[in-house]
Amino acid sequence: MSAWTTFFCEQSDRFGDSPDAQSTLQEPLGLDAPPATWQLLSKRASCRAFDGRMPSIDDVRTIAALALSSPTKSDLQQRDIVLVQDDNVLEALKRSLASQAWTANAPMLVIFCANHRRQRRLHEMRGHSFENDHLDAFFNASVDAGIALATFVIAAEAAGLGTCPISAIRNRSAEVSELLHLPNHVFPIAGLAVGYPAKTSEPSMRLPLSATVHTNRFCDDHESDAVEAYDARRAQRQPYQQQRREDIFGKSEAYCWSEDKARQYHLEERADFGAFIRAKGFQLD
Ligand SMILES: Cc1cc2nc3c(=O)[nH]c(=O)nc-3n(C[C@H](O)[C@H](O)[C@H](O)COP(=O)(O)O)c2cc1C
Repeated sequence: MSAWTTFFCEQSDRFGDSPDAQSTLQEPLGLDAPPATWQLLSKRASCRAFDGRMPSIDDVRTIAALALSSPTKSDLQQRDIVLVQDDNVLEALKRSLASQAWTANAPMLVIFCANHRRQRRLHEMRGHSFENDHLDAFFNASVDAGIALATFVIAAEAAGLGTCPISAIRNRSAEVSELLHLPNHVFPIAGLAVGYPAKTSEPSMRLPLSATVHTNRFCDDHESDAVEAYDARRAQRQPYQQQRREDIFGKSEAYCWSEDKARQYHLEERADFGAFIRAKGFQLD
């Protein structure tokens, strides 16, 4: 099988076989094989099981440098990375993540932080008052941190490491913030478990491109049909091993992605996050 055929099979497995997926993706660019990054992304998957080896801190620093080479809004560079290797800090963080049992075997945690403190320092240094104390400051720094996280994941996976983002650290934002000595205007957007994979993770299926890639104008007229088709395809190939909160919702005969996601956000989560961010000094209006 040629590298392009393998690539298109992977795409089809992930997104489904709709005709527009085929026409969108079958464009071999005049290359004999897909670029290495495409091949990597095509079958990438989060890793939650590690073999116990500790990644070298020098390698992880290099990956952090690559992550920070990603684009940054207006060159503002409003994101920082905290590498957590120290046993005491690592264990304390893992205690905060008790709801995510799999994190117990993560050799290293990397915390991605939005940092608006530096920008405020620039205003002090240069004597120009900061006149944009509104939601945009929080948003720009968060987006920058998210871009760095995504780039770190790609760079780490390209080096044979396994990763899985952890938004569960925001379940206890204040605790994590204190543990990492995060000052005002600096907050964690997500953690990332990093280590060597114990096994190959199966790529998880995505909604069809017909529902998520729009051309020229946004249109979700047929979204419910697309979701139902995706639910069925996914339930058949990647059924959930467990149903979310069976104690509350009961057991569903046709458990699927949309049921899982609707159950997830039927229950209140992180309702105190806004208060935490305000306490960090951000204005969210
Ligand atoms: C910002 C962010 C936060 C996430 N937080 C968690 C988490 O707390 N726990 C977890 O197990 N996975 C977490 N994930 C991983 C997602 O569950 C995973 O990306 C999704 O199921 C798709 O699977 P894949 O990455 O293997 O394609 C997070 C992913 C992102 C991007």
